[in-house]
Amino acid sequence: MSPEVSAETLNKVLWKIPNVLCLVGSRSGDEWNGMTQSWVTQVAMEPVLVAAAIDVKAVTNRLIRESGAFTINLWDREDTRPFVKFSKPAVKDGMSLNGRPIREGRTGAPIFTEAVAYLECTVWQRVECGTHDLFIGEVVDAGFTGDDDPIVARMEDTRMKYGGVKRGGH
Ligand SMILES: Cc1cc2nc3c(=O)[nH]c(=O)nc-3n(C[C@H](O)[C@H](O)[C@H](O)COP(=O)(O)O)c2cc1C
Repeated sequence: MSPEVSAETLNKVLWKIPNVLCLVGSRSGDEWNGMTQSWVTQVAMEPVLVAAAIDVKAVTNRLIRESGAFTINLWDREDTRPFVKFSKPAVKDGMSLNGRPIREGRTGAPIFTEAVAYLECTVWQRVECGTHDLFIGEVVDAGFTGDDDPIVARMEDTRMKYGGVKRGGH
């Protein structure tokens, strides 16, 4: 980063980038997880590729590396409560994570049955990006729970922030 740009300015600019707020589902063997995720975007049309940048220290990162699969679960804009709970490793009880029901997707990764829409992906490529790995996923399944035009949760619906300049612990 240029020394002429202060961390404060850079943070403020980076936080202006609009982002979705969703849950990433992952699983390796008996270990299942869901995590709050904001850095998600489509990156190609043929094949259809979707990328998620995931902290190298996150449990989710390890589970995706081990299994080669993940799910993106888009959530109802009116229900942003799960995002607080899913910002640390989730507790599995039967077929639920932090009390939110899940089902097994085609790849074996969890799909939240309350998600208003979901994408299931197999890892096409993992790109090392310093603090995060960019998992580029090829979409193998997608769908809606109900209405096919739901309004999904976004970062600006909450007072949460993610990203910007690295502080003590990212
Ligand atoms: C609003 C919000 C957005 C987040 N977005 C991301 C993200 O895009 N990528 C990421 O690696 N962690 C993100 N996190 C942090 C993870 O949810 C958190 O570090 C989680 O504990 C790591 O997951 P784990 O359970 O797999 O260890 C976000 C957290 C919050 C509260």
